[in-house]
Amino acid sequence: MSSSFGTLFRVTTFGESHGQGVGAVIDGCPPKTPLDETDIQPQLDRRRPAQSKLTTTRKEADRVSILSGVQNGKTLGTPIALLVKNKDQRPADYDQMRSVPRPSHADYTYQMKYGIRASSGGGRSSARETVGRVAAGAVAEKILSERYGIEIVAWVSAVYTIEAPSPDLAGISRQEVDRSAVRCPDLQAAEKMQAAIVEAQEAGDSVGGIITCVCRNIPAGLGEPVFNKIEALLAQAMLSIPATKGFEIGSGFAGSRMRGSAHNDVFIKKGAHLGTRTNYSGGVQGGISNGEPLIFRVAFKPPATISMPQKTVDFEGNDTVLEAKGRHDPCVVPRAVPIVESMAALVLTDLALQQKMRENETV
Ligand SMILES: Cc1cc2nc3c(=O)[nH]c(=O)nc-3n(C[C@H](O)[C@H](O)[C@H](O)COP(=O)(O)O)c2cc1C
Repeated sequence: MSSSFGTLFRVTTFGESHGQGVGAVIDGCPPKTPLDETDIQPQLDRRRPAQSKLTTTRKEADRVSILSGVQNGKTLGTPIALLVKNKDQRPADYDQMRSVPRPSHADYTYQMKYGIRASSGGGRSSARETVGRVAAGAVAEKILSERYGIEIVAWVSAVYTIEAPSPDLAGISRQEVDRSAVRCPDLQAAEKMQAAIVEAQEAGDSVGGIITCVCRNIPAGLGEPVFNKIEALLAQAMLSIPATKGFEIGSGFAGSRMRGSAHNDVFIKKGAHLGTRTNYSGGVQGGISNGEPLIFRVAFKPPATISMPQKTVDFEGNDTVLEAKGRHDPCVVPRAVPIVESMAALVLTDLALQQKMRENETV
């Protein structure tokens, strides 16, 4: 079951980096939802490789086809299969890496687990697998925006040691995020981040970064305590993205350095409901959304495949020097922005459907 995610809105991704194609099957999408490829393609375009000099140069158009579950522009309630064909594989780039596991990549662990692994391209451990997540996430987003007016916007808030100031969380839009190739809405910080990525790339190296995400117009009541708390599912969703190393919600680790009197989110009346004056909770209390925006951060490591020579050993334990060939991302965060948004959409759609079911039961 390791390639499936969700309870009622259940997504299974398939495909290897150098196989024929990648994609997803969604089971449990509500019927009569308007849907066609144009709802999905824009997010795939934002995830696509070779968007700028900051990303891998692998050339993939990533055109999505809806194979099933949709007729005359409406979902049928049956499984929706989404397919993107692979085009630009170069297995020869992986010749040396067949006998030498890349340090901090997944070659060694996949081999140990399965006793076999995809002969090139990293197989399922490649970020190519996330095409299916982004395609399915776009369908989830359509449901969230049509039924609840939910908006999800993620951006790059740090690269290497460069941190950007927080944008206006109530207003930040994807258009603002996409004004820079690095996807940081603060253009001064974006310039410094881009320079850091290019500098690392030119040295045959790589750098990490942080993505921050805000989800607005979330109704109070989403989340299934105690094990499927909304933050627990978000953490699982985010930490399943390749190269992630950390997840924080609301005040996160910094909250541990505050006093309760400063950290408490005092209630105030907001329209027909209660809201909070501050949002250190990140929109969640007791594992249930409280109606305030969800706000969380995801840390990404510097990608493992670097062209700088590295002293290591081959699968037999013999000393060797690995100089990775091929086209690789010097920093993953600019392309990971739509992946974070998509995984958030999958979690929220699944929880919204579960809450709807509960409300129907209790009427
Ligand atoms: C958008 C994106 C692009 C990535 N590109 C690369 C890459 O070009 N080279 C690489 O070594 N890792 C890349 N990764 C990360 C690897 O897939 C990942 O590090 C590897 O599967 C090992 O898993 P782990 O880092 O989660 O332990 C990328 C990740 C994402 C999210």
